[in-house]
Amino acid sequence: MIFSADMNMNLKNEIAIADAQPVSGNAFAPPQTDETLAQEILDLKHELNAVILAHNYQVPEIQDLADFVGDSLGLAQQAARTDAAVIVFCGVHFMAETAKILNPNKLVILPDRNAGCSLEESCPAGKLRELQETNPNFYTVSYINCSAKVKALSDVICTSGNAVKIVEAAPKDRDLLFVPDENLGAWVMEQTGRPMTLWRGNCYAHIEFRRDNLLRLKQSFPDAKVVAHPESLREVRELADAVCSTEKMITYCRQTPAERFIIVTESGIIHRMRKECPHKEFICAPTFDVMQMPSDNCRCSQCKFMKLNTLDKLRGCMKNLHPRVELPGLILEQARRPIERMLEISAR
Ligand code: 13P
Ligand code: SF4
Repeated sequence: MIFSADMNMNLKNEIAIADAQPVSGNAFAPPQTDETLAQEILDLKHELNAVILAHNYQVPEIQDLADFVGDSLGLAQQAARTDAAVIVFCGVHFMAETAKILNPNKLVILPDRNAGCSLEESCPAGKLRELQETNPNFYTVSYINCSAKVKALSDVICTSGNAVKIVEAAPKDRDLLFVPDENLGAWVMEQTGRPMTLWRGNCYAHIEFRRDNLLRLKQSFPDAKVVAHPESLREVRELADAVCSTEKMITYCRQTPAERFIIVTESGIIHRMRKECPHKEFICAPTFDVMQMPSDNCRCSQCKFMKLNTLDKLRGCMKNLHPRVELPGLILEQARRPIERMLEISAR
């Protein structure tokens, strides 16, 4: 059995139909369609002089009305260069925080404050500081999926799109400490040959992809190219034709002559892939045993945090200018330097 984004849509439609109830009482409120909601959001965007930035994992209806859709690096670069007065960030909290750090005087709002990240949770600033104190020669490279406090303790930030370049540019006489993703860190070590001390964090969604399931899928589609995110386990990365950030995955699928791709990352990315390569076929790698039906605890390649954002909440945050990202001045200042260092190295 193959899990695809279509199945997901069907399930969503079934739930929507099951949930539809007749309006009780005399009040009749016409249901608001996605189109009217989208129009309201575009009107608010105009009124606020706002820019809407969205990550590649966001639901299709949010991606379709965003000004820019991309990976963490592209989103940080867009945030650094925008002249809009308000940044509306549709992604997870650390991404909105990064936009705020780059724009301390702008209003940065997000649809759902609870859109966190398991990597960010795995690395509290106090614990990182304790580890840093054990070796004054540590040079801390922090994956952007971390809190502003952790960024403030870092020498440089990286994303999956530039981690190899950032580590290659790190001072040769320093001991590298890579936080918080041990899988991305291990992949960067393989690519650069540079030893690093790795923080033991991971992405709860990407570590669900397993070698056996992927092998079975590859046997069913021997012509398909496998594209995996570096947050995946090594046993999965080893089976991939390309390992890269979400934006580079899209570029790879566009530029590679193959007609069929197995995608090992969060399923939201399939929307852009289908839009940009309408004649190619994209198969979502499953996070369950492909020989069995998904069990009750099926986790179908979705990040529960990314999926907290909806059109309704997007409209709500733009109407209320809340939730907004607010950070203490000192953290803003200290976290800005390592992000700017990343942007500068990335542009070389
Ligand atoms: P990208 O920067 O590759 O889009 O990855 C962000 C992320 O959170 C992956 O899980
Ligand atoms: Fe964090 Fe994983 Fe979700 Fe990306 S997919 S935001 S790393 S929990």
